[in-house]
Amino acid sequence: MTATATAPAALAATGARVFDAQGEALFRGACAACHDDGAAVYGAKPALALNSNVHSARPDNLIQVILQGIEHPANPALGYMPAFGDSFNDKQVAALVDYMRHRYAPEKPWWTDTQARVGALRARHGE
Ligand code: HEC
Repeated sequence: MTATATAPAALAATGARVFDAQGEALFRGACAACHDDGAAVYGAKPALALNSNVHSARPDNLIQVILQGIEHPANPALGYMPAFGDSFNDKQVAALVDYMRHRYAPEKPWWTDTQARVGALRARHGE
């Protein structure tokens, strides 16, 4: 079997990787400074792999954090997390969320319809 096999599963995986690359680019640009595995730029680097939001059955909490940020973290020493609701459109937030699911919770199934979920959660907050 070649790398260009056209079984449905292979096609789905190819599509997922394209989406993944977009999410990865967004993550590097907007999140990695505070959350990458390397040196922490802002003194704190909350470990996303351990964060329950990326392992959850639903993407809602992760989407909310990205849209709204965290103004008052539980531990003030961590600093704060900016909101990205104004800078990213629904598709970008979805790409980011899908990428994070894949990277930080590889043992879990992909979330489905994340883009629609982003729109619904935005609407709920009147953004
Ligand atoms: C300026 C630094 C900074 C940037 C940039 C940043 N974050 Fe954060 N983030 C934080 C801090 C600090 C916390 C920890 C807050 C806490 O533990 O209370 C956090 C927490 C989180 C959490 C866990 C929230 C929770 O309730 O457990 C997630 C998920 C997250 N960030 C995702 C992202 C994503 C995705 C991006 C990029 C779109 C991003 N962050 C960009 C600083 C940042």
